[in-house]
Amino acid sequence: MMSFYDTPLADLDAAMQADPAWALPHTMKAGFLLSLTEPGLRDEAAAHLSHARALATTAPARERQHLEAVQLLLEGRWQAACNGWDQLLTEHPRDALALQWAQLWDFYRGDTPALRQRPARALPEWDESDPLHPYVLALYAFGLEENNLYPEAEEAGRRALAANPRVPWAVHAVAHVMEMQGRFEDGATWLRQHQPHWAVDNGFACHLWWHKALFRLEALDVAGVMRLIDHHLSGPALQITLQRLDATALLWRLHLLGEDVAAPCAALLAGWDLSAPAAGYYAFNDVHAVLAMLGAGQQQRAEHWVARCAEQALSATDAGRSNHAMARGVGLPLMRGLLALGRGDAGSAADQLFPVRAAARGLGGSHAQRDLIDLTLLAAAARGGRSTLGRAVLNERRMAKPLTPLTRHWLEALGSRSEARA
Ligand SMILES: [Fe+2]
Repeated sequence: MMSFYDTPLADLDAAMQADPAWALPHTMKAGFLLSLTEPGLRDEAAAHLSHARALATTAPARERQHLEAVQLLLEGRWQAACNGWDQLLTEHPRDALALQWAQLWDFYRGDTPALRQRPARALPEWDESDPLHPYVLALYAFGLEENNLYPEAEEAGRRALAANPRVPWAVHAVAHVMEMQGRFEDGATWLRQHQPHWAVDNGFACHLWWHKALFRLEALDVAGVMRLIDHHLSGPALQITLQRLDATALLWRLHLLGEDVAAPCAALLAGWDLSAPAAGYYAFNDVHAVLAMLGAGQQQRAEHWVARCAEQALSATDAGRSNHAMARGVGLPLMRGLLALGRGDAGSAADQLFPVRAAARGLGGSHAQRDLIDLTLLAAAARGGRSTLGRAVLNERRMAKPLTPLTRHWLEALGSRSEARA
């Protein structure tokens, strides 16, 4: 589960068969299914959880704590689930499952400080000779990176890989550092060097291909991005929604550069479960569905989708769910800005997207994933006569990393201050 090699499902099924009275494999399977953020898997997760509950009366306290945390996930109360894992970890800092899952749900709900703090609380309790130590170090590396501690993150990620090269989360953490620092050539080299370890039989490969494509995009190599999409982020390569999100996010970035992505976006949507329960399930996924619809030129469908998400996410029954606040604070305002851009009202889109940036962390995902908000704002500003606003946002980028070909593209699209005054 920590390495992403294969899926843990076969092992969990084997554990259930070997010891039918053991609750934990059922809890773990439920948690794994929920971690895929697919509403279509909720019922199966619920069935495993109720089976686990029936078996858990004599289970150790730690296993029951896992059960309660996954139950909270099932109810959409992600923060409460993470709080449960925190309590467990205070007593058992070497519970790798709690560390792994709590970080995943910190990530999904945008709790940036916790991404670093939780592994930091546990790491000194681990022996470096423990075979899971590099995986925990990788969690810490990613937490450091998301908290902008780039040199420390890179050091931790490289240390994890020196101990074990088959830790894709560590490869990923260092790739994020390079992304955030505008080191797109270093990043491409880094991923190529480690490719034999992450690209084969690994459930995380799709996301690392996404990162590789981001480095091509930073170089403004549109053909290179398309090639990576064709080979690794389309068709049968896309098995789950999380992979569709990455493909969508790339196509949207190309769309912002003026590329025609209608056909691949329509193909993505064709295999995507966007049935009624999906709307308003998770704001991050909802936003990506809108991007795919707009990329495919399906404005009406996107308008209806956002209306359904609003209805679902803001309903009274949703009030205890983590997604309620995520949708209200970020997801819905962001989607409304995107709809404005789709309608051709680029100036209004830029005005609506600018305030979303301040709360963007609450959408979940990484800084690199949420960068699509800034990129969309830059495109809206360039098209909608909001060049001073666009340049202000672009200035943040210029101060954060060297001038890359992508940044230069937006600089040219937005013009200089003197041009605007003329
Ligand atoms: Fe990533």
